[in-house]
Parts: sequence; C-alpha cells; structure tokens
Amino acid sequence: MGLSAGLSSRDLCVSLLLSVAVCTILLSGQASAKRVLLMPSHITSHTKYHTNIARALNEIGHEVWVCMPSFLVERNVLDTTGLHVLEYKTDVNIEALTMHPLPEKFFRNETENVFDQAHLMLTYVDQMLMDKEFGESVRKLSPHLIVIDSIPTVYLYATLAYRLDVPFAIAGSHYDPMTLRVPFNPGAVALPVFQVSKHMTFPQRVVNLAALGLLYFVDMSGYSNAVARYAPNRPLISVEQLMPLAEVVLVESDHILDYPQPVLPNVIRIGGAAISEAKPLTGIFKDFVEKNSPEGVIVVSFGSMVVNLPEYVASKMSNAFQRLNYKFVWRVNMSSPEPGKILTSTWIPQNDLVAHPNIKLFVSHCGKNGQYEALYNAKPTLCLPLFGDQWYAAERTRSKGWSLTANIKEVTADDLVDMITELVRNSTYRTRIAKASEIFKVVQGLPVKRAAFWLDHVMKYGGAYMRYAGQEMPAYKYYCLDLLAFFGFVFGCLFFLCYLMCSRCFRMCFSSGSRASKNKRE
Ligand SMILES: *[C@@H]1O[C@H](CO)[C@@H](O)[C@H](O)[C@H]1NC(C)=O
Ligand SMILES: *[C@@H]1O[C@H](CO)[C@@H](O)[C@H](O)[C@H]1NC(C)=O
Ligand SMILES: *[C@@H]1O[C@H](CO)[C@@H](O)[C@H](O)[C@H]1NC(C)=O
Repeated sequence: MGLSAGLSSRDLCVSLLLSVAVCTILLSGQASAKRVLLMPSHITSHTKYHTNIARALNEIGHEVWVCMPSFLVERNVLDTTGLHVLEYKTDVNIEALTMHPLPEKFFRNETENVFDQAHLMLTYVDQMLMDKEFGESVRKLSPHLIVIDSIPTVYLYATLAYRLDVPFAIAGSHYDPMTLRVPFNPGAVALPVFQVSKHMTFPQRVVNLAALGLLYFVDMSGYSNAVARYAPNRPLISVEQLMPLAEVVLVESDHILDYPQPVLPNVIRIGGAAISEAKPLTGIFKDFVEKNSPEGVIVVSFGSMVVNLPEYVASKMSNAFQRLNYKFVWRVNMSSPEPGKILTSTWIPQNDLVAHPNIKLFVSHCGKNGQYEALYNAKPTLCLPLFGDQWYAAERTRSKGWSLTANIKEVTADDLVDMITELVRNSTYRTRIAKASEIFKVVQGLPVKRAAFWLDHVMKYGGAYMRYAGQEMPAYKYYCLDLLAFFGFVFGCLFFLCYLMCSRCFRMCFSSGSRASKNKRE
C-alpha cells in the first residue's frame, strides 16, 4: 500500500518534470520556428524542387508557405504535405503556353523564339508583382524569409521582398554568376547551353565568351526600372545591386555531376533536391521488374512532359527494344508492341524504378532530376537529349564516362541496339558511376536536408557575414572603373610631365646646339 503510494507520488513527480521539460522544448521550438514563403516559378518541375525544400524546412519545425498559380494547384501533382499553399490567380496558364509546346516544336524541327518567350514571362511576372491583392496577402503573412526562384525575370520576385523589407534567399537550377557577382572566368566555365566537356576547345571558348558578352549587354528580362516600379516605397537601387543581397543562394547543381567551378561562401551547390530514398516497387511495376527478367530491365523516360513521340521515333525505339534481350519499362503514350517484354505507361515511379537492383540502364533525355536519380543510384545512362540544357547535361556525364549520347532524330535502331548493349555489357560505365555515386553520398548527403539547413541557418544568423565585398558595391566599383579612371589620370599626368620635360630638354639641346654651330660659324 505504502509502496504503491510512494511509487505513484514519484510517478507524479516524474510526469510533472517530464511535462515541464516537454513544455520547455515545445516553447523553445516555438520561439525558433519561423515563417517562410517560397516563390517558385510557374513551371511544375521548379515548383516541385521548391516543395521538396519546403517539406524539409517544415520537418525541422518551420511554418512554410508555397505560392502557386491556380493552374498548378489544379494539376494536383505536387506533394504539399505539411505545407500551406498561397494560391494566386492568373490570366493565362503560362506553363501551358511556354513549356507544353516545346516537345512538339522540337520534333517538328522548329526553333524557339527566345524574345517571344521573354516577353510572355515579363508580362506574367509584371502582372503578379503589380497584383495588389497578392502583395497584401504576402504582407499579412509577414514571412521571416522569402525564397525566390532563380530563373531570369522570375527573380524579379526579389523586388517584392525588398518592398516588404523582408530578407530573401534564392533557390533554383538557373545559376547566373555574373548577376550574383561571383568571380567567373568565361575561358574556364561554360554557359550550360553548349555541348562541352570540362576543358573547352579554342572555338568553344570563343563562342562561350561571345555568348556571355551578348547576355551581359542584351537585357531580355527588361528589368532596368524594376525596383522603381515594384518597390516605389524603398530607396532606388538597381536589380544588379539587389540580387547579390540574397542571404544565401542555393543552386541546383554540384561539383560531382556538374563540372567543378569557383563559388562564394554564400553560394551553396545543393544539386539533387529531388532525390529521396527509394521505396519498394508495388503492383504491376514490381511484378514486371522482379519476375522473369534474367538479363535485367531498362527504364526509358523522357520525363512527364514528353510522353507523345512522333511515329518515326517510337517505331525505331520499339524496334530496337524488341531485338534486345532485356525487358523495358517505357514511359510513353502508346500501347506496348510486346506486353510481356515492354511495359508502357504514361506514369512510372521513376526514382523507385531507377533505384531497383534489377535495373541495368536508364534511357533518358537527361533532365536534371533524372540525372541525379541515375547518379544517386549509380546507373549508367543512354542520353537522348532534346532541348534546353539537356545537351550540356548529356555531355558532362558522357565526358565523365558514365553515359553515351545520341541524337534521337538521327539515331537508327541498329545504333540504339549497339549503344544499349555496350552500356550494359561493358562494366567501365557502371564502375565509374558507382564511384561518383559514392563520392556524391559522402560529400552531399541528402541535398534537400542541406538546403533546409542553410535556409534555417540564415534565418538564425543572417547571411551578411558570408557576403563578399564585391556583392555590396555598385557596378562601377565592382568592375574597378573608378580605379581605372584614377590610374588613367595618374598615368596621363605622368605622361604629360614626361612630355613637357622631354620637349624642354629637346628644345634646350637643340637651341644650345644651334647656338654652338652659330658660334662656330662666327
Ligand atoms: C526533322 O529533322 C530530322 C533530321 O534531323 C528529320 O529526320 C525529320 O524528318 C525532320 N522532321 C520534320 C517534321 O521535318
Ligand atoms: C495519349 O494519346 C491520345 C491519342 O493518341 C490522346 O488523346 C491523349 O491525350 C494522350 N495522353 C497524354 C497524357 O498525352
Ligand atoms: C569499355 O568502355 C571503355 C570506355 O569507353 C573503353 O575504353 C573500353 O575499350 C571498352 N571495353 C570493351 C571490352 O569494349
């Protein structure tokens, strides 16, 4: 009786202490929890990248909001577990206008008019930044940090943060060292649109420098008066001065998949935010991959945007696949020519498939997410790039010996058979990517966790301590124009003095000489 009473009073003490401790932890957690607003662009893949980071931020205790246009919310393909969505209305579905026609145009051999695209984007971004209702809802939210996407024009969202006087960070796949004032050598770092390896040839460096020069002087995002237009309440600065004031810049890239390049302390390469630990396969995919596949299975995908292939492409691919001894899981909008051997579907659990040990090879357009999945899971790739930075992406893995590349329009069924056989049979590709995968895991860990860590870090400590002097000066100082002017002046003066002295000497010599000869004659 006494014993149990003693026990229960001790229990009471323990539980009291426990609840005090829990309350303290909760309260202190509450105190450090911050409100973050992520502003991705209107593109599904970019928004996916931001929602991945957002969930990781939510997991470490922050209240996270992601703003999305209604057409993206309605698509309902993004995992927003634990997140708040700040929906906004737009006149047009800009993703459908700018992104969806790309594959069709590519297969019809039509080129993209970049100026039209830039104009559409500017109209869209302008509408959003001038939308009073949207601006007001962000102000009411009073976020501690706004995370913006990095693609040109969309990064004008930084002016909203500036208007509301909220610190901002940048996270995205587009990386523009010139705008961010990261020291950058155009002879050693290529624009990610050319098909180049780590060491560029002379003609490649010529083209690279010319293209960079053009980009620097031709402003396609039309933002010269952006701060005056979108943040009229704040001191007027240029967008070039605003962008480097980001607390931290998270770049969807890294030094293992991409070529190494110099960065600054506040530029963190966190490539692979879409990577997650693979889940076991289920349903038809599990049966197909795990049963009756002695030679292994190959995954084929051009991403969610390209599931409708023109007849001449689809037929040479299925011809090649039928001649090979492997089974295929193919993300495409057509019925399988041989269902026991080729599984076709417009949706596949891509990451879980690529991670599966029975998968021998990934045939891909070399989009960023797919490339990271292949690297993380150490699978060689046959790259069939289509457009954008995919040719650059294909070349970097080919030059590292992890993949082969072919032009989908020109390749024949025979070539496809040869290349697939080479990639699966020759173990060199597998060995090399296995090593890279190991390095990636050791160095990068799970990238999305690092992204959350850095955003949390700058909310706690601010990012100013990492900022390089070059990021805090006006352009004329950064490009040393004042110094050049100063030294120009000094050298000009010296030159002038020299000139004066020389001419004086010359005249003195000349006149004394002539006097001497005069004297002689006399
Ligand atoms: C596009 O170009 C490829 C060769 O690069 C050609 O085989 C194909 O027929 C062309 N397609 C169209 C629609 O012109
Ligand atoms: C698949 O193709 C059919 C017609 O060939 C088309 O109606 C359908 O919209 C396509 N599906 C997708 C997801 O593109
Ligand atoms: C395997 O691939 C490597 C790299 O491409 C090549 O050097 C080697 O000759 C290949 N081995 C065979 C047996 O084909």
